[in-house]
Amino acid sequence: MAKANLIDNLNRALPAAARKALAAIVQDAQGEALAIYLVGGSVRDLLLNRPTLDVDLTLEGDAPALARRVAIGLEDVRCIVHSAFGTATLKGANFRIDVATARVETYERPGALPSVHPGSLQDDLFRRDFTVNAMALALTGDQRGAITDPFDGKSDLEAGLLRILHDASFRDDATRILRASRYESRLSFRLESKTVRRLRRDVAYLKAISGPRIREELARLWREPQPERILLRLNELGALQAILPMLSFDGSQAEAFGKLREIHTTPSRTAYLALLAWDLPQPEATALAARLALNKRETEAVRAVTEVRTLERDLSAEVRPSRAVELLSPFPSAAVWALAAAGQESARVQASRYLHRWRYLQPSLDGHALLALGAPPGPQLGQLLRRLKAAKLDGEVRSRRDEERLARELLRAGTRTRT
Ligand code: CTP
Repeated sequence: MAKANLIDNLNRALPAAARKALAAIVQDAQGEALAIYLVGGSVRDLLLNRPTLDVDLTLEGDAPALARRVAIGLEDVRCIVHSAFGTATLKGANFRIDVATARVETYERPGALPSVHPGSLQDDLFRRDFTVNAMALALTGDQRGAITDPFDGKSDLEAGLLRILHDASFRDDATRILRASRYESRLSFRLESKTVRRLRRDVAYLKAISGPRIREELARLWREPQPERILLRLNELGALQAILPMLSFDGSQAEAFGKLREIHTTPSRTAYLALLAWDLPQPEATALAARLALNKRETEAVRAVTEVRTLERDLSAEVRPSRAVELLSPFPSAAVWALAAAGQESARVQASRYLHRWRYLQPSLDGHALLALGAPPGPQLGQLLRRLKAAKLDGEVRSRRDEERLARELLRAGTRTRT
């Protein structure tokens, strides 16, 4: 691809407001005689002609200062600065541009977050995960439009290969193992042979990665179209077991992930997590929640799975909808989504009906309407509403008039029992 075209292509791919912000950034950098580059995944995607969502820029200079200066002249753009990392984000309504000070990273020990110092573009590219992510496109000066590619990432891009930059890459940052599988799946690339050997050698370093960092990587995984493909690969590479010894992922779980998307176009990450924990006994589900530093809601969903699984027996094809609602409603919906995807046939059907319809169903009569019919205020009102809801779920009443008839009957019966 001709050099100048890359910048044109980048601009064409951006919404107007982002284009304007980028032009202002480039102009400011040029005015200050600073070199600024498009880097990382943005360059990779540009060369692959894939839509780039985020724009990542690296500046040989003070990135937060530049971002602040530029933001003053832009309407409806927020500037968020992370001084400790020398980075800043310009955020508009429909775009995000990250500007980072070019940096050197050093790892004191495996799994630790790196120490960061300002550096050159070369340093900044050398700290990266894979050759295809270690290219830069100059946006300023004589080099404008030229690609800096110290590790021959372009050849790997053409060959569809993921290659680490140095022998200690996975040891420095084992989250790269998760990233590798994600890119393999998303880009239909494969790991270069030496890289895969290093990965297998260093997979145990995942043990040293903190829960929040693993959780964050998994969150990115759930956003991919088919996370199960990545999980199968991670399982095969021994990465899941390194995260938690009991964790595994096989073809039947992969199938359940696919089924989840058949019944929900965009499953929540909590539902995916519950499904990941589907086969785990309770103590391991608890251990998984702790290992991934899950929040309270996610932890509850993952822990509920063991109990929800026991409902499979009760949720036969004959069970009445009101009974199914009674059984399922105490549980977090994410755990019920897992049942609807991974359970046995009749339980899946019942859980899915519950999730799509039954849980939303309400009687036409509300408390006020029942009071108007002569119901006494107090707990009996609640009971009556629950009874009406069950009748509606089971098809015993179909209209408001049916409900009024039933309510009157129940009230008469209630009065008779009391007297
Ligand atoms: N990076 C890295 N090692 C990591 C995380 C990030 O080397 N553990 C580098 C890579 O060069 C990556 C860049 O930082 O391209 C930006 O990171 P991120 O936004 O996570 O990656 P993208 O490549 O933009 O990937 P995605 O398309 O998933 O956003």
